[in-house]
Amino acid sequence: MNSPLSDESLYRRHSPIEMDASAFREAGHQLIDEISDFLSSISQYPVTTAPTPRSLQAKLPKGMPLTGADPTALIKEVWRLMAENSLLNGHPRFWGYITSSPAPVGMLADLLASAINSNCGAFVLSPMATEIEKQTIQWLGELIGYPAGGGIMVSGGNEANFIGFLAARKAKLNWDIRKLGLQPSQGKWRLYTSVETHTWINKAADLFGLGLDSIRWIPIDEDQKMNVSLLEQTIMGDKKDGLIPFLVVGAAGSVGTGTIDPLSEIAAVCKKHDCWFHIDGAYGGFAAALPELKEQFRGFELADSIAIDPHKWLYSPLEAGCTLVKDANSLTDAFSFHPVYYNFDGEEETNYYERGLQNSRGFRALKVWLVLRQVGAEGHIRMIREDIRLAKSLFDILGQNKEIEAVSQHLSITTFRYKPTDIDGSIDQEYLNKLNQTLLNRLQSGGEVFPSNAVLNGNFLLRVCIVNFRTSLSDIELLPDIILREGRPIHDQMLKERLVAS
Ligand SMILES: Cc1ncc(COP(=O)(O)O)c(C=O)c1O
Repeated sequence: MNSPLSDESLYRRHSPIEMDASAFREAGHQLIDEISDFLSSISQYPVTTAPTPRSLQAKLPKGMPLTGADPTALIKEVWRLMAENSLLNGHPRFWGYITSSPAPVGMLADLLASAINSNCGAFVLSPMATEIEKQTIQWLGELIGYPAGGGIMVSGGNEANFIGFLAARKAKLNWDIRKLGLQPSQGKWRLYTSVETHTWINKAADLFGLGLDSIRWIPIDEDQKMNVSLLEQTIMGDKKDGLIPFLVVGAAGSVGTGTIDPLSEIAAVCKKHDCWFHIDGAYGGFAAALPELKEQFRGFELADSIAIDPHKWLYSPLEAGCTLVKDANSLTDAFSFHPVYYNFDGEEETNYYERGLQNSRGFRALKVWLVLRQVGAEGHIRMIREDIRLAKSLFDILGQNKEIEAVSQHLSITTFRYKPTDIDGSIDQEYLNKLNQTLLNRLQSGGEVFPSNAVLNGNFLLRVCIVNFRTSLSDIELLPDIILREGRPIHDQMLKERLVAS
């Protein structure tokens, strides 16, 4: 029997996964042509066709392929599968949750990054990519006016906030948590955040060992901002009870309504009570770049750490989040280990595996860096400003309609609800909530527009979040008529059902 090394096929390997240059060129050109056509006609597509899982499963291959297929044909097939069966967040009338239209140059950046496939865990594995990541982090800090000592690119807002949480845990728990774990004063640590905080905080408290009971949910005021006097009272009460406050999280653009908490007041409370100050700016952080919003963001620069999300308001394709920290050591203190099998000790080299949760890491910074170079700070400021103006215009347009209640507008988020005028005293919050929930379902599956929802003071609201450089005034002007056209028959039906039931 021949040994494997004498086998001719191993000297002249033709791996089935390889594509020669002409095949790669053909498949790539074809795909770029498809994407270019798609981008130039995206507004003619429905935002979504709202497919069911079962209908999609029927379009997929029936079993695991045993033999291969032509990659050019596969790329063609999968392009159609995706373009025709996806929710298009690049559509001008996509305003759901907080996902942006992706910057076209960012799409090309992802292809380029995959072609080189730098492993951004260590400088030697990704020399140029690491330096670009470092510069991206520095530029992001400069853009928003945050004096960052360091930072790291991560998968998105959840991870960016986790990194801040873990840096705080390491810095403020006053024993060797790495060696001893959480035991020494288990159950005593407290963190403070507004009731409007995104669910990342629940995951962090759970996954990182403090438990959900460690979270003190601070109420909001009538402007949806954290009530800072209640924050301080809660901290003082906890201290009196022998508990240990260590972290306060402020929002720079809350997930539901886009509110910015009173950051400088929170910073003062943190200083007084020796708490780490983390800001969740995953959505709104980039708006700090706008000179006219400086006052609202006052205190931003005092945070120990801040989460920002280029895949939200910097229009980067998913995934791109970022944590910035005042003191770069706070990341290495929390995350650095030096295994014997790594030879990564160059004095001036930055090794990102020591600064976050991941070991091997992709080159997420490239798409952000390229977009920053393409449009500059001025371009970003202009796009964010326009998104905010559109959200304001929407609030005003909706407010002029008697059957629509415009409820809030902060940054580029506007909330409202359909509220028929023929309602009598018996039509209560529960009725309106059901009406608006049904309306939202209809809007989200209709393909014309895609809002999402918020719940404020128990009221179910429709919510439009514009982080979309393709949205124009004519898009948002369509919304009131669509709401009435879809809302009225739902209301009629619900009234009929009520009559039958009574
Ligand atoms: C304020 C805020 N924080 C955190 C997140 C989580 O971000 P991601 O979905 O990128 O993990 C979101 C998501 O919308 C958010 O709005």
